[in-house]
Amino acid sequence: MTSTQSPQSVVERAPAKVILIGEHAVVYGHPAIALPFPPLSARGTAVPAAAGVAIRSDRYSGLVARLQEGYEIPKPLKPAAEAVRGSLEAIERAGGVPRSFDLYLESDIPPGSGLGSSAAVAVAAVRATFRFHDREAPPALLRMLATRAEAIAHGTSSGLDPTTVSAHGPIRYVRDHAPVDLNVVKPFGLVVADSGTTAPTGQMVMRVKSRLDEDPQAVARLAELGALAERAVQHLEHAEYPELGRVMDEAHLILGSLGVSTDRLDAIVTAARSAGAFGAKLSGAGGGGCAVALVPIERLRPVAEAMMAAGAPMAWPTQYLIESDKP
Ligand code: MEV
Repeated sequence: MTSTQSPQSVVERAPAKVILIGEHAVVYGHPAIALPFPPLSARGTAVPAAAGVAIRSDRYSGLVARLQEGYEIPKPLKPAAEAVRGSLEAIERAGGVPRSFDLYLESDIPPGSGLGSSAAVAVAAVRATFRFHDREAPPALLRMLATRAEAIAHGTSSGLDPTTVSAHGPIRYVRDHAPVDLNVVKPFGLVVADSGTTAPTGQMVMRVKSRLDEDPQAVARLAELGALAERAVQHLEHAEYPELGRVMDEAHLILGSLGVSTDRLDAIVTAARSAGAFGAKLSGAGGGGCAVALVPIERLRPVAEAMMAAGAPMAWPTQYLIESDKP
């Protein structure tokens, strides 16, 4: 690979994501509501190199993915490698000259916790690759490349996670469609709390699939989640947060009936409600991972404390959405 001018090191980021309503149902074509969660993020740092492209990640120290003919990419780095390879191909198709660089991927998003860690890493990798070539990834291409990386990481991806972590605020998303930005007119509080255990997204998606194969009622439950997502759009855009909280409570019950909650998640969401949250639910694929509570801003701290007292090792109380929080 050749350089046409002296490239500079670049750093690009992508935030975590939180699903308000619609995880799992979105895989089957129902709408979902999700939003980027900037307190946690992934970073990609591209540094000029003498030759070739090498990718490393703080999660897999000692492993390196080299984009060269015949090189066996280590499995954990395959999603990022694919995202970078796709980016370079797109840059070349658009008349750019691929440059040599080392890409360092870092993330403070807990993996396997429903916060879109792998999607954020993929989006940061694509953004850094484009920025290193003095370009910006077109939004649809960014989503497509990150969704492809997600499919490698998890086996199945609705595209919700990569679409959310590349959005600028809450979105309504339907699989295979461009996202619709939702309008927030009044800030609200969110507490995201980790239940302390993780579960692979792909496994949880398969668990729901087996439910659907065995239990005809499960199909109707997914449709109910889709209907809740439509109600959530209305409540969010009209700042009807108590009503939105109740929709989240209903969604948690349905997710539990699909087999993706845990006792710890149930305890954490119950504690959030008792401490004054408008509503709370698990967020993401479940089986562990995070819960999210919608909270009056003045109750952020007590709700976070209650969620931790119920067993969450970490909680992130956040005021959403003030301009400076936008990714
Ligand atoms: C994972 O964050 C969300 C799921 O709906 C899977 C997907 O949409 O790809 C469980």
